[in-house]
Amino acid sequence: MQTKIYGHRGAMGEYPENTMLAFKKAIAAGVDGLEIDVHLSRDGEVVVIHDEYVNRTTDGYGAVKDMDLRALKLLSAGSEFEALDNYDPTTWTSEQIPTLDEVLNLVEYYGIELNIELKTNVFEYEGIEQRVHEIVADHNYLDKVIYSSFHMPSILRMKAIYPEARIAWLTDKVPLWPIDHMEELALEALHISYKAILRYPGRISGIEDRIRVWTVNETTDARKLIDHGVETLMTNYPERMMAISRTHQK
Ligand code: G3P
Ligand code: MG
Repeated sequence: MQTKIYGHRGAMGEYPENTMLAFKKAIAAGVDGLEIDVHLSRDGEVVVIHDEYVNRTTDGYGAVKDMDLRALKLLSAGSEFEALDNYDPTTWTSEQIPTLDEVLNLVEYYGIELNIELKTNVFEYEGIEQRVHEIVADHNYLDKVIYSSFHMPSILRMKAIYPEARIAWLTDKVPLWPIDHMEELALEALHISYKAILRYPGRISGIEDRIRVWTVNETTDARKLIDHGVETLMTNYPERMMAISRTHQK
């Protein structure tokens, strides 16, 4: 089995996270999928941003849940990105907070997978699971979407809405008896911090092909994780990881 590569928040090591620019750059690097984070705006739109607040990644202030999509769209999601060698603020400032619908339009064009992480562990976004699922269903993209969350109630709600959904539990530890968790909750996979896997590789023995790891940015770690046979590496540096993936497979 070839370990897949997903662009984490697109390609956040080199481009403003969770922007269409970062997603396009990751796709250009050849990734198998994207990982994105979603919240609900005040008017119930599913928007793609990591934090509950817009402060860190945009030029605005406030909670996503307190702003309508129209207000969120006026913010720059590119202007706050730290300067890099290839930093070009004149073009990046125009990056907006994407909607889930916009990201689905992009990934379906290229036919790649999409991991939608529901950021439901701080604020309760009533109905977010239903809303997210409706949008994915409208795009007829259920087969290539994986829902994930650190928040177990969100996972259970998603399962209740759509039992066949591909769902992963996000955790920074390798649980004891991971297969028991997956079977009992009918999960497709576990999304586990790569550090935990490197520490306890024996715990995923036999279920490596149902383990996706985040967030792998160093090539030495990537090689070890590929040798352990994990299904997917999520990375902030898609180009770097695609180069490893092309030359190093189990
Ligand atoms: O989905 C993997 C990873 O994104 C979880 O952590 O904080 O980067 O969303 P975070
Ligand atoms: Mg995430």
